[in-house]
Amino acid sequence: MNIPVKNNISWVGKRDWEVEHFHGKEYKMQRGTSYNSYLIREEKTVLIDTVDLRFRSDFVRNLAEEIDLKKIDAIVINHAEEDHAGALAELLALIPGTPIYCTANGVDSINGHHHHPEWNFNVVKTGDSLDIGNGKKLIFIETPMLHWPDSMMTYMTEDAVLFSNDAFGQHYCDEHLFNDEVDQNELFDQCQRYFSNILTPFARLVTAKITEILGFGLPVSMIATSHGVVWRDNPVQIVELYLKWAADYQEDRITLFYDAMSSNTRMMADAIAEGIRETDPRVAVKVYNVSTHDKNEIITSCFRSKGILVGSSTMNNVMMPKIAGMLEEITGLKFRNKRASAFGSYGWTGGAVDRVATRLQDAGFDMTIALKAKWRPDLSALEACREHGRKIAREWALSPLPDSTPKPADGILPAAIVAAAAVNRDGVAMAEAGEGTGQKMICTVCQWVYDPADGEPNQGVEPGTAWEDVPDDFLCPGCALGKSVFDPFEG
Ligand code: FEO
Repeated sequence: MNIPVKNNISWVGKRDWEVEHFHGKEYKMQRGTSYNSYLIREEKTVLIDTVDLRFRSDFVRNLAEEIDLKKIDAIVINHAEEDHAGALAELLALIPGTPIYCTANGVDSINGHHHHPEWNFNVVKTGDSLDIGNGKKLIFIETPMLHWPDSMMTYMTEDAVLFSNDAFGQHYCDEHLFNDEVDQNELFDQCQRYFSNILTPFARLVTAKITEILGFGLPVSMIATSHGVVWRDNPVQIVELYLKWAADYQEDRITLFYDAMSSNTRMMADAIAEGIRETDPRVAVKVYNVSTHDKNEIITSCFRSKGILVGSSTMNNVMMPKIAGMLEEITGLKFRNKRASAFGSYGWTGGAVDRVATRLQDAGFDMTIALKAKWRPDLSALEACREHGRKIAREWALSPLPDSTPKPADGILPAAIVAAAAVNRDGVAMAEAGEGTGQKMICTVCQWVYDPADGEPNQGVEPGTAWEDVPDDFLCPGCALGKSVFDPFEG
């Protein structure tokens, strides 16, 4: 099957209505996905990407119905993950020696998956191009870490189509290919779910890379992603959304998630949420139980939120295991510009809440005082939870509260409620930043740390060089990305 995309470009990919998971079982797909492959038939015939490994035989058979495979002059592999390059071995078994255009990292990861170093690799970097005849060229743009170090995009001149690979995609399946043909709510929900669960750790890089691409001044009539729709109606809209989401995004929203052994922590969550809503009715408040709700929906809600509250019963003096897993995932996502607080009920000791608060602080959240309740909250304890919610609503308000909202209640905390020590992350950071030869900086992509005391002699940066004096063309020794992906290191 082929679907015309534009002029001599057609879609030859595979729809997958049934798939439910991506990255093992870590990302739950709600609406399937597609593996988009494109066939360009100009004077030269070029295939852009293939499909998922599971569909390699279908793909090659369908492609052979479209075209004599021996007429394929080149294959562009924008990204080697098996959902894009999965059919490469089966295809090249039929047309060995066909040139493959990919990045240097692409050679490494394609070989790592397929183990064919004899394949005809042609390494490209940003600005390199391939003449495909009829006055048209393919221009390559490296996009490391969007989504792997090997990733790149390919731009086709004249038709002005950007083959963006994972970027601007969604795990979304529809019989229609173009963005203006599908349900818009479904589409944008999936775009945001995809960005928040997969691309958030690379948000700084998204901004830098989009800025770089916009700087080329190339017209873009379509963005042909590797998953989901082709953006033909106002393709810039998804670029603008990415820039917005990458800029420490937040809405007037608070997300609570918890796990509970016997509903006591759930009672706290419900009461805190009530207090927030009473005090600031403008705020969207969402409550999730990590044992029963979709993990990726919770993460998307956290991404949209100005702050999160994380609750756990204490079990064996530690937090509930599913909460520990969520905190590990949230740490990896490197959310910025968000506040957080911990809460939970306990019997003999309240170790879980302290551990949750520490993990949230380590994950970079600005912390607000935590809340513990001993045993099952009674009426006064529940009122204390509501009051905690009111306090959170006031502290986290994005603009002055309406006059009619409830005022603080005095002396409300009963003995069963213990407010844990507030953690002022900014205070700690400021103290550390003033010491030594200057602020250490960490690469937000590979975690390499620049220490001014050591400099980076391999790039001529002498020991004792403050970060602001490091040259603008400095590259991270760990992942070769520029200064824009570095943040102050507070470790
Ligand atoms: Fe679509 Fe990076 O996989």
